[in-house]
Amino acid sequence: MHKILTLNNISPLGLARLPREEFQVSADMKEPDGILLRSFKMHDMEIPKSLKAVGRAGAGVNNIPVEKLTKLGIPVFNAPGANANAVKELVLAGMLLACRHIPASWEFARGLSGSDPEISKAVEAGKKNFAGFELPGRTLAVIGLGAIGRNVANMGIALGMKVVGFDPGLTVEGAWQLSADVKKANSVDEALRVADFVTFHVPLVDATKNLINAERLKAMKDGVIILNFAREGIVDDAAVSAAIKAGKVYGYVCDFPSNLLKNHEHVITLPHLGASTAEAEDNCAIMVAEQVKDFLQNGNIRNS
Ligand code: MLT
Repeated sequence: MHKILTLNNISPLGLARLPREEFQVSADMKEPDGILLRSFKMHDMEIPKSLKAVGRAGAGVNNIPVEKLTKLGIPVFNAPGANANAVKELVLAGMLLACRHIPASWEFARGLSGSDPEISKAVEAGKKNFAGFELPGRTLAVIGLGAIGRNVANMGIALGMKVVGFDPGLTVEGAWQLSADVKKANSVDEALRVADFVTFHVPLVDATKNLINAERLKAMKDGVIILNFAREGIVDDAAVSAAIKAGKVYGYVCDFPSNLLKNHEHVITLPHLGASTAEAEDNCAIMVAEQVKDFLQNGNIRNS
């Protein structure tokens, strides 16, 4: 019997891939052979001596001490691509939230009160503050062309945007899945220079820390909208904060709370919802459960 410890809620459809005759699954499992988790931070946790495999029901693995586990011979499995559609859809929402002023105009509309004529008058006076702009013809820079970045880039093309992508590690298979209309840049700077919107789909590693910093911001177009649905730390919040106050950056949408900027009207923060759809949670859980099962049963390693 293989014992599986769950450190976060894992979709029942994923857990159903672990047959009961062979797997015991619990959030309170002692001496586990496998761990399944989502965003639980494993760095401070004592690694159980019994542990043989870890499965992250998501793409990023920065909440897991991968190096330490690798030294112990414990593979870490993840679910690349399984939540790509969910993230792509939220990036679209993020672009629209920012360029159509949805949070601020919603706040305004919710605050309206009085008689019908009074409200109509207030709407007429207020709505001119929320005039937005449209996506077709605007340039979307996509930094990182893994499964999520490719989905976002192809969506941009479908929306009539010009899309420029950058990824030094783009694979041949990845390039085939990318619309031929996506222009490939030779550097981050080349992509950033032309962007009306820039979105990041890279893991947080040393090379991606503060990819947007004060220096790079200077070379970007005035009025750019920055979207960070990847990880905190990829964008230098202090630099972007200053650029927003100076009117250089028009908006910042990020999928985690940001203390520096949270009261600014053009800053939209979300509680890491990119992968939070029923479909993505099922897809990710199924993908990692299958991998952990295959490893514990047969010693097969796919995608660790
Ligand atoms: C990911 O890395 O794919 C996401 O962080 C998943 C999640 O939100 O759990």
